[in-house]
Amino acid sequence: MTAAGPLLEAADLNVWIEGSHILQGVTFAMPERGVTSLLGRNGVGKTTTVKAVLGLVPRTGRVAFDGVDITAEPTHAIVTRGIGYVPEERGVFAALTVAENLRIAERRPGTHRYDLVHELFPELEKRREQPAGTLSGGQQQMLAIGRALLNDNRLLIVDEPTKGLAPRIVREVADAVARAAEEVPVLLVEQNLSLVRRVGGAAVVLDAGRVVHTGPAPDLLDDADRVRELLGVSRAAAPAAGTAAPADTEGRPTA
Ligand SMILES: Nc1ncnc2c1ncn2[C@@H]1O[C@H](COP(=O)(O)OP(=O)(O)O)[C@@H](O)[C@H]1O
Ligand SMILES: [Mg+2]
Repeated sequence: MTAAGPLLEAADLNVWIEGSHILQGVTFAMPERGVTSLLGRNGVGKTTTVKAVLGLVPRTGRVAFDGVDITAEPTHAIVTRGIGYVPEERGVFAALTVAENLRIAERRPGTHRYDLVHELFPELEKRREQPAGTLSGGQQQMLAIGRALLNDNRLLIVDEPTKGLAPRIVREVADAVARAAEEVPVLLVEQNLSLVRRVGGAAVVLDAGRVVHTGPAPDLLDDADRVRELLGVSRAAAPAAGTAAPADTEGRPTA
């Protein structure tokens, strides 16, 4: 490990997809501890930012992990440095059991944290022989997060873990993300502001392919006008402290 500094740094990331300038100079840094939430309305470039960090899309700019420039490295080399990625679509193998899904996620012998995964998600141990396709959406999300925790990762990147889940399940997944973040720093893409409030930490807000706000997440969420301006959430829909009501942004295009 190198001296204290940002765990992950992205500098001036630019991505073009089919002639569209999707990321227009995205710059942010995430600290070594806790959750950093990447926020923004639908289509502003959150998933593309994550993919740019991981080298999954062609990009210009610079990415550093733990002080090391990883910009030129292929994705497999980047993740082998200790980054667990839970994509938006989860990538759980429906026909395989829970245990098999975990097993095939093992990156190399000797460093698999089954104790941690089963401590955070006892349900996965109970359901170890169950085909993953028969799990609920929330359980599948926990399996996807469990797979990323299994390896000795130093950063988890989790893209919209609560998308499409019922409010009760959102709370469970929020708890799981918060508990995971006690073990491993998490870069969390999220639209559900109650989850962001639950996990705290830092916030980075994107709009139209650029970073438009960075700062402590609780400060942002306490500023209803700023939340509405940046995320399109009405004052009434913004969650108050201590409530867990879902408050997805509405994905309206910016004016
Ligand atoms: N493979 C692709 N082909 C065409 N357009 C894409 C592709 N991936 C992303 N985009 C566009 O890039 C923009 C940002 O997408 P994305 O990063 O997925 O946004 P977010 O995750 O914030 O909802 C959107 O306008 C989307 O339509
Ligand atoms: Mg996305």
